[in-house]
Amino acid sequence: MTRQPYRLLVRGAWLVAAATVLLYGGSAAAAELSVCIDSSSPVAAIDAHLARAIAAHEHAQLRIHRFDSSDGDDAFSLKDFGKLTRQECELVLGFPIDTDAQDVALGGLQATSPYGHTGFVLVTPGSSKVASLGQLPKGTRVGVAYLTTPNIYFAEHPGLQADVTLTTDAALKALATHVDGAAMVWKPAATRYLAEQHLDGRLEMHALDEPHARFNLVALYDKDHAAAAAAFERAIAAMQASGELRRLLAPYVEVGALPVSSRGSSAMAGRPRYHARAAGAGRRCATKGAGATAKTSAPPALYTEAQATGGRQKFLDNCAQCHGQDLEGMAGPALKGPNFASVKSNFHVGDIFTIVTHNMPATQPGSLPRQDYVEIMAFLLQQNGYPAGGSTLTYDETMQSKVPFIYRGK
Ligand code: HEC
Repeated sequence: MTRQPYRLLVRGAWLVAAATVLLYGGSAAAAELSVCIDSSSPVAAIDAHLARAIAAHEHAQLRIHRFDSSDGDDAFSLKDFGKLTRQECELVLGFPIDTDAQDVALGGLQATSPYGHTGFVLVTPGSSKVASLGQLPKGTRVGVAYLTTPNIYFAEHPGLQADVTLTTDAALKALATHVDGAAMVWKPAATRYLAEQHLDGRLEMHALDEPHARFNLVALYDKDHAAAAAAFERAIAAMQASGELRRLLAPYVEVGALPVSSRGSSAMAGRPRYHARAAGAGRRCATKGAGATAKTSAPPALYTEAQATGGRQKFLDNCAQCHGQDLEGMAGPALKGPNFASVKSNFHVGDIFTIVTHNMPATQPGSLPRQDYVEIMAFLLQQNGYPAGGSTLTYDETMQSKVPFIYRGK
């Protein structure tokens, strides 16, 4: 159920027909542009319109390959996108990139310049004056789709009550039928739902001023298809100048790129998801230094084997749905390995434990018994290469612990 993205980008000069011929190295009639479109994307239809307009600009034959990133049990990964760009098409349209993510790792894929932007929005009754989460009355029920980024906002707005639904439509329906007082959902999906249900006047969308809510849309491509990407960017630039791009994208997507923000962390960069996946904010800003030296010394034994064993089950029950059964990351970031706890991130055991006890599970922060949190922490330590031993991990000591938390390999 987690997965996602698509669509394309901007900038460059207008491409004249003669240049198209050179670009594709053949006669104009033979030139072909192949694009991949995610049929599970709420903007799949717009992607197709856009692709047709681009192909027309390029005097190219268009070939559309449709795929469904919501198909199957496993999250659609960058590897899958890589396969698409090598085997099925030159450009994957509509791929969202979190503007709060700093170093977006695209797994060797290239991205065009952003051609549009969108994101998660707060939807409220048109009659209310509320335009942000902070203005919602305490106790307001807010609908969010399972495994989507807005689940994390409840940690910062503890007065709100999460109504986690299976789909975005279900969250909007709960709002339209007054079960919920607001919803936080992916804008293109909300735009479609409001239009289909004739709710445009009754419900209103507001940009969410929260971390990881804003996305630029790019096209992904393999380095072998740089020529197609360049043609694409030129056509987009021309269409932007003429106003055609705006007409094509509205009202689902805004034209142009959002500036990349300086507030985000990069923990989840490279795995942008509009159904799911959040970037790893909420991380304590650790000071540099302490962690760097710890790597060389042997990791201390902080917990007992029995605690880790108990922790495994509690992790599966309470955390795995978002962080993955193998801690590999899903809606929430990975919780093991060098990308999670690197020397550079400079975590201490107490930092991680504070996040876990205060902010997790993301939908019901602080809801578990203390002893369960302790055992889950023992399991996280074990999974990151810390040995079991004779001393028992305790709640209070763990909270204060300045022991560096660095992935030790396994
Ligand atoms: C409903 C989904 C969800 C559940 C359930 C959940 N988490 Fe999370 N978790 C997240 C998200 C999303 C983030 C990223 C938070 C952010 O960006 O602020 C996160 C962040 C974290 C972090 C910080 C990681 C980092 O890179 O900074 C830790 C540690 C963590 N979760 C542990 C847990 C544990 C342990 C549990 C079970 C008790 C749990 N989570 C349950 C969604 C979830």
